[in-house]
Amino acid sequence: MSDMSFNPATTDWYYPTEDIVKNAHVPDYESVYKESMSDIEAFWAKRASTLEWFKPWDKVLDSSNAPFYKWFVGGKINIAHNALDRHVKTWRKNKVALIWEGEPGDKKSYSYWRLWQETNKFANVLKSMGVKKGDRVTIYMGRIPELMIAMLAVAKIGAIHSVVYGGFSEQALADRIEDAQSRVLITCDGAWLRGNIVELKKMADQAVHRSPVVESVIVVKRTGQEVHMEQGRDYWYHDLMGLPIASNICETEQTDAEDPLFILYTSGTTGKPKGILHTHGGYQVYTSTTLEWVFDIKDEDRWWCAADPGWITGHSYIVYSPLILGATSFMYEGAPTYPYPNRWWKMVEEYGITILYTAPTAIRGLMRFGDAWPNRHNLSSLRLLGSVGEPINPEAWRWYYNVIGKGKSPIMDTWWQTETGGFMITPLPSVGLKPGSATRPFPGIEVDVVDDEGNSCGPDEDGKLVIKQPWPSMLRTIYGDPDRFVQQYWKAYEKQGWYLAGDSARKDKDGYIWVIGRIDDVIKVSGYRLGTAEIESGLVSHKAVAEAAVIGVPDDVRGNVIYAYCILRAGFQGSDELVDQLKDHIRHEVGPIAVPTKIEFTNLLPKTRSGKIMRRVLKSRALGLPEGDISTLEE
Ligand code: PRX
Repeated sequence: MSDMSFNPATTDWYYPTEDIVKNAHVPDYESVYKESMSDIEAFWAKRASTLEWFKPWDKVLDSSNAPFYKWFVGGKINIAHNALDRHVKTWRKNKVALIWEGEPGDKKSYSYWRLWQETNKFANVLKSMGVKKGDRVTIYMGRIPELMIAMLAVAKIGAIHSVVYGGFSEQALADRIEDAQSRVLITCDGAWLRGNIVELKKMADQAVHRSPVVESVIVVKRTGQEVHMEQGRDYWYHDLMGLPIASNICETEQTDAEDPLFILYTSGTTGKPKGILHTHGGYQVYTSTTLEWVFDIKDEDRWWCAADPGWITGHSYIVYSPLILGATSFMYEGAPTYPYPNRWWKMVEEYGITILYTAPTAIRGLMRFGDAWPNRHNLSSLRLLGSVGEPINPEAWRWYYNVIGKGKSPIMDTWWQTETGGFMITPLPSVGLKPGSATRPFPGIEVDVVDDEGNSCGPDEDGKLVIKQPWPSMLRTIYGDPDRFVQQYWKAYEKQGWYLAGDSARKDKDGYIWVIGRIDDVIKVSGYRLGTAEIESGLVSHKAVAEAAVIGVPDDVRGNVIYAYCILRAGFQGSDELVDQLKDHIRHEVGPIAVPTKIEFTNLLPKTRSGKIMRRVLKSRALGLPEGDISTLEE
């Protein structure tokens, strides 16, 4: 939990300019919200009708088997059709869909026509490899256009993608391949990051070695270094795309609205990552509506969502919803500070970016370098700004607003989760802002802050964030584990039928929501979601470690950093070398994002009498705070 989030002293208001409100898709939040709540199903049906359906739905919402809700039941729709196929029948075929810049400075752009053709070709490649509707395909790549093409191609043929973020390594990738039982893996030789090559193919090889379910590996050539290609298993993407089988026409599978579109693994309380399952219908209705209304996307915009496509933000708001809206997106491969801290600002100027959406950690990281770097560039093209992933502290908010947005671009602080598929609590451009608050729920969404019994908390009182009504892009289940799905999200408020978000929050007297942080064993590090259990099991997989406990400790730039406490096995001695070895081990097993900042050796961990590690006690000790109630601590 970040201590920088809630600051009741900062309740100053910021209002959008008249121009922004007047030209917004939704100039009046209050009335649209009210209308949406008067008949949620009618509201979503109207939004769904902005898309092309192969067959219209019979029923908007089926709650008969709650919490396994179904949306647009009986409807046939494919997200690739709305993202690509329908645009190439219009003038949009000539519109730029994607502008891309690699970290070394190479550039590419794709019109809707070209993206459609590349997707068709790759879809045919996948088909020729025997990928069928319902099959899972794992994708493990850097931030390159082929990642987007791969996702769209999988969707097009009705298969299910599971994208694993390139910052994860061998064991994390192997676990996700295993859970999804993917026979095909799409990767690349490497990715550029801070001038270095991240050796993705090498890690993919290790993962496939550990998870032999993979039969074929398709490799995009990006960084060009020598990589091992296993005969009969590994194929170069460019070779396959050159074969006659890779025809540029491919019929889109007429998937059911409730057919799975993707699995995206995220961290939870146990070490086993949760495969969050999203479907074709409701997900596209919800993500396209939220992007259009919150970021007010227009044809002339150049939208830059600076997330990684390997996380939900990238799935929903780099790949799918911008294409559905026929927007022009920008994507950048590498680090924000490479080679200098003005890289982002230089690109905003060069490409005339109108809307920038990023995470507080990136803002804080760039703020550190001072105002001179952004001030060297003309950022006047920016019209709206956005934030996501963790609470944004008011200081970073103001810097973003004043120095980047020059006091004229409202900041859309969007609260949502992998599980929700799209923005849930967020301003629209017409809403008054308070730095650090994600403001109010999106139309059609009912949220509250409640106590353990389900009573609404009073103004500024801490409570649990719940969502009281189903919404179209809600997760449908945890892949292969429906019991865990019910247990995790729906058990706490079973009687009321509410979704437990897993965050603590406060609602102020104006009804504005202030998200404080996670209430479970999830740590947000640089906006990335990591489970303590995943890192702990990474540590104990090292021969020297008998037991480990991991906590998140607040950090000015990264939101939180990881501290680890290890009990060593008999015969091992704690030393600086062992600390380095363990860090290296985590880098390989879980990924560079999970490497603890500090590793301490200890003989004892604070536990409850039933043997649960009391991370709260460790955290208080690390922060030099009182330990609170320790009555359940074992002797
Ligand atoms: O704790 C909340 C935090 O990120 C969690 C969800 O993480 P993930 O599934 O990785 O999705 C991140 C991108 C949507 C939430 O439970 N979080 C996300 N956005 C915000 C936030 N906390 C405060 N303010 C936000 N805007």
